[in-house]
Amino acid sequence: MPYRPKNEPFPLPFEVYPEEWFRRLEAGEIFPERADAVTEVDLGCGDGSFLNGMARQYPERNFLGVERLLGRVRKVCRDTRKGELANVRALRLETTYAVEWLLPRGFADRVHLLFPDPWPRKKHHKRRLMRQPKFLRSVHDLLKPGGEFWFKTDHEEYFDVAEEALQEIDFFERLPWPEDEFYPVTDFEQVWQADGRKIQGIRLRKIATA
Ligand SMILES: C[S@@+](CC[C@H](N)C(=O)[O-])C[C@H]1O[C@@H](n2cnc3c(N)ncnc32)[C@H](O)[C@@H]1O
Repeated sequence: MPYRPKNEPFPLPFEVYPEEWFRRLEAGEIFPERADAVTEVDLGCGDGSFLNGMARQYPERNFLGVERLLGRVRKVCRDTRKGELANVRALRLETTYAVEWLLPRGFADRVHLLFPDPWPRKKHHKRRLMRQPKFLRSVHDLLKPGGEFWFKTDHEEYFDVAEEALQEIDFFERLPWPEDEFYPVTDFEQVWQADGRKIQGIRLRKIATA
């Protein structure tokens, strides 16, 4: 893994730092003594306001944030410590590797992908997570039976692309987005709301497949 400053605790408090990166983890290695609790995963959690907000509201559930930028992981861990939240962990890793190779199968009751990079330039469209069947399949596999996948974006074209990609797969069913559910506004969402952008969400439930 990349360089870390010598004067910083390593791993950071609340950071998941596996001894081995090429073996699938078990739930107990991520949330020791809490492996049986309801577990939610926030992919690309940024500074973690949503993650920590959820963790404060639901202390009985586990929350794992996955984020590739070290500065943001530091912030998540700092806020987790300040808030004395025993139910949060942060993993500094690329989302697709985490979901496809590292996290346990059937680990999450709910997965959140909130305001992922929309990759607006045409030559980057293939990087959009929601248009990749392999990524969607690995989110499906990460979920427990009946688990849910929640996606939100401010980018109208990305939303349409996600809807199109979902027409091509048969392992998620669409559910209505509930209006009365506790669901904190994320850092990026605040910015886009202030900018007057239209925010749209897709809520999916895992369908069991052979
Ligand atoms: C637009 S921000 C949204 C952050 C947060 N979900 C929110 O709504 O405030 C996207 C976040 O995903 C992270 N990110 C982008 N691509 C990623 C990847 N492939 N793996 C892990 N994190 C990623 C970025 O570093 C950034 O923090």
